[in-house]
Amino acid sequence: MKVLGFESSCDETGVALVETHADGAPRLLAEALHTQMQMQAAYGGVVPELASRDHIRRVLPLTRTVLAQAGCTLADVDVVAYTRGPGLAGALLVGAGVAVALAAALGKPALGIHHLEGHLLSPFLGDEAPSFPFLALLVSGGHTQLMHVEGVGRYALLGETIDDAAGEAFDKSAKLLGLGYPGGPALARLAAFGNPKAYALPRPLLHSGNLDFSFAGLKTAVMTQHRKLGSNVCDQDRADLAASTQAAIVDVLVAKSLKALQRSGLKRLVVAGGVGANQHLRDQLNAGAAKQGARVFYPPLALCTDNGAMIALAAALRLQHGLAVLQTDGAFDVRPRWPLADVSGDVAATKVGRGTGFAGP
Ligand code: KG4
Ligand code: ZN
Repeated sequence: MKVLGFESSCDETGVALVETHADGAPRLLAEALHTQMQMQAAYGGVVPELASRDHIRRVLPLTRTVLAQAGCTLADVDVVAYTRGPGLAGALLVGAGVAVALAAALGKPALGIHHLEGHLLSPFLGDEAPSFPFLALLVSGGHTQLMHVEGVGRYALLGETIDDAAGEAFDKSAKLLGLGYPGGPALARLAAFGNPKAYALPRPLLHSGNLDFSFAGLKTAVMTQHRKLGSNVCDQDRADLAASTQAAIVDVLVAKSLKALQRSGLKRLVVAGGVGANQHLRDQLNAGAAKQGARVFYPPLALCTDNGAMIALAAALRLQHGLAVLQTDGAFDVRPRWPLADVSGDVAATKVGRGTGFAGP
């Protein structure tokens, strides 16, 4: 069975074709991506209307590329999957509209997928897939969550950010330092030349006893520090501040992930979402987990940020596990705000042990 997947929740148009096998993990046949990063950089962030218009321009040429790469035609597609949410409403509507129209024209079913489920399952596109159950650290521009993943469609939230997401902390700090959008990769590049101990920035909620995160205060601390440096700021100061900022964000992400591993007794940690591309985070997590006898799994680097492959894959896995609610009537909606708990099955959908630490599902 072949699943064509569309991702258009924010500023990346992704299309991919995945094939399911009765006796193993789904296989990625082809994928294509267009990022609006350069276009949106001129505005210092994502302008939703521009994002939607660009998705319209890109989605069909990308689909043709994917089918050509896979040596397939539309007639070979069995199911058309798309990101139903969360994300920008207009951007989501483009992918959903194209997917559902295509499915109707082909006489095939369509399937709406939760964007975060795509990220969560994306390590299954890597060379070595983790086995269930595992712990997942989801770190993107809009989300920072620790999840207990029992199986496909069985997710329990252990902790999450109470304000900014980790990616937002990278992006906002980078903006303060005069770096481009998206800030994460730019800040990480500058940080490589700096001293992470140069500035004592806060590690919010580090010792809170629970698995929640908070990054809004960090941004204020970076702003204060940047102001103190004033107009005399030199390149080394900026690199030092970048390195100190990255260290503060990573320290908290690592400490909470290791705590969650310890409390749950799980030995596998999956890291997904754009911030998962950060090398300092990877180094720290790998070292910390190894000390606990645990292993960290990542999607291939190119699939850390938004892409169509993770959407086609999540759809394929749902189909394999009998968890897909297929649409055949041409009707659809999008869910710009959509808790992952809404697509979670028999693991407690609500947060486990809030405020008191994780007691184990
Ligand atoms: O998962 P993603 O592509 O989109 C969302 O669903 O949000 O994540 C984008 C986020 C942005 O905040 C970006 O700055 C961050 O991931 N990011 C990074 C790196 N690459 C992307 N942050 C830190 N270091 C990186 N290397
Ligand atoms: Zn994402």
